[in-house]
Amino acid sequence: MALHTSLPWAKTPLIINAPMGGFAGGALATAVTEAGGLGMIGAVDDMEALDGHLSKVEARLDRVNGLLPIGVGMLPFITKLDAAVSVLQKHRPAVVWFFAARELDHYAEWAERVREALPHSQIWIQVGSVDAALQVAETAKPDAICVQGSDAGGHGYEKGAGIISLVPEVIDAFSARSHHISVVAAGGIVDGRGVAAALSLGAQGVVVGTRFLAAKETRVHPVYQKAVLAASDGGQSTTRSKLFDNLRGPNPWPLAYDGRSLVVESFLEHERGVDIEEIRRKHNEALKGPDAGFGEGGKDGRAAIWAGTGVGMVKEVQPAGEIVEEMRSEAAKVLASVSARL
Ligand SMILES: Cc1cc2nc3c(=O)[nH]c(=O)nc-3n(C[C@H](O)[C@H](O)[C@H](O)COP(=O)(O)O)c2cc1C
Repeated sequence: MALHTSLPWAKTPLIINAPMGGFAGGALATAVTEAGGLGMIGAVDDMEALDGHLSKVEARLDRVNGLLPIGVGMLPFITKLDAAVSVLQKHRPAVVWFFAARELDHYAEWAERVREALPHSQIWIQVGSVDAALQVAETAKPDAICVQGSDAGGHGYEKGAGIISLVPEVIDAFSARSHHISVVAAGGIVDGRGVAAALSLGAQGVVVGTRFLAAKETRVHPVYQKAVLAASDGGQSTTRSKLFDNLRGPNPWPLAYDGRSLVVESFLEHERGVDIEEIRRKHNEALKGPDAGFGEGGKDGRAAIWAGTGVGMVKEVQPAGEIVEEMRSEAAKVLASVSARL
């Protein structure tokens, strides 16, 4: 079954907002689903907060086949499984997404527990390599895999490839082993051209984070959002580094991961060889300030400003529903114009 038909409210091409922990709450998920996309909430470790976001969605959206027509993203390396399952069971979202287990094998345990509690919900897992996609396909048997390329904002595999090679290689590997798992693409997709490209690579939908940092419904500090709008030339203005996870204290993330952020003062000091203790001290002090460590939204900030390489094309704040509709209609136009040029 095509992925979008398993989400009966969804329109094609399927646009999914990334479950950005702390940023993507009930308001964003509701708006994206209302526009015919798959709205996602990003959970971290606060299950009470997640419960609150899901209750907000429940007040706004009707259930579809008994399920709440949104997804919830979980981070197995930090989220407590029992607490997560009880909130999920209470609200029954259509999709439960996992990203960043400490070991790839852990996804199978999460998938089993969530399937037991929510037998009608889909399980999606985001990975960043062909090997991981295959291992997870065999052990956790998800309904969909999100193939995350190295252009993605926020966390991802330290060693990576862009979606232009990663997505088709995963699709070929699945088809060689007869795995019937849908593939969606993430990383650097910010407009209809990116959507059209991902569809051409074989993806059944796109997961978009950075563009939604400029959505009205996203929970983002105004200086953070200003920095996203001002940034250009994402390959230069952003960087992948483990430094960002070492800023608050010792890095809690699994070894395979780093994160992509705008280049900020903490990173520049790290490059100049300043000691991590010194960088941390200044960072944690800056977090207490009125700008929450983001400075004036330029390189002067000390806190990470997670964003992908597509950041240079994000130029205005819009309602999330408008972003979804724009990306969908632009993609259709691009694909028609490309086929007319052949
Ligand atoms: C600010 C931000 C926070 C993110 N937080 C999460 C998260 O909590 N869980 C998750 O699975 N992915 C998270 N991601 C990664 C996204 O799932 C996705 O792979 C990425 O946003 C896609 O690339 P793009 O930002 O270029 O669109 C985050 C991304 C950003 C930009």
